[in-house]
Amino acid sequence: MNDRPLSWRSPKTEVRHSPIHGRGLFAVADIAAGDVVAVKGGYIYDAAQWEAARERLDSSEIQVGEHLFIAPADVAQWEGAMLFTNHSCEPNIAIDGQIVFVAMRDIAAGEELTHDWATTDDADFELECHCGTPSCRGVISGRDWQKPELQRRYRGWFAWHIQRRIEASNDT
Ligand SMILES: C[S@@+](CC[C@H](N)C(=O)[O-])C[C@H]1O[C@@H](n2cnc3c(N)ncnc32)[C@H](O)[C@@H]1O
Ligand SMILES: [Zn+2]
Repeated sequence: MNDRPLSWRSPKTEVRHSPIHGRGLFAVADIAAGDVVAVKGGYIYDAAQWEAARERLDSSEIQVGEHLFIAPADVAQWEGAMLFTNHSCEPNIAIDGQIVFVAMRDIAAGEELTHDWATTDDADFELECHCGTPSCRGVISGRDWQKPELQRRYRGWFAWHIQRRIEASNDT
């Protein structure tokens, strides 16, 4: 079996302990706005397939379509599929499309790379946020993308499937 990691993380990044939660992804060199910092790889699951796998492979997926997810095929691939990006209410990276993460601004070596899950998630969850930023929402939810102020703030930074949902909800 090919044991290369499924996901790609820029050599300007490193996974280490995070004050936000567990392990996080950090810049080890200065990163310029627009640089690609990571690309998620894996296997495509539909909603039913992911529901059956989620307990084993928890937290390793990202949503790439209305009912589609990308995640490792098995537990042995989990580590290499993870990007370890924690959520922040003041993020410095975002998804461009479905699997490519880019820097939203210049990032200095040492900063943790975080994205706002409002830009990627459409799911049924609530989480007490430990990002510690001045504008922390306190509790984040899998439906934060629906908040008008976040739709304004992250215009142009939403994952492809969320952007489509926002456009569909504006048409009604
Ligand atoms: C994709 S993992 C992120 C990597 C994780 N830190 C690890 O070590 O595996 C997602 C989990 O990280 C935690 N997490 C990420 N951002 C968080 C935040 N801002 N506040 C609290 N927990 C967070 C949550 O427990 C969430 O289920
Ligand atoms: Zn927060």
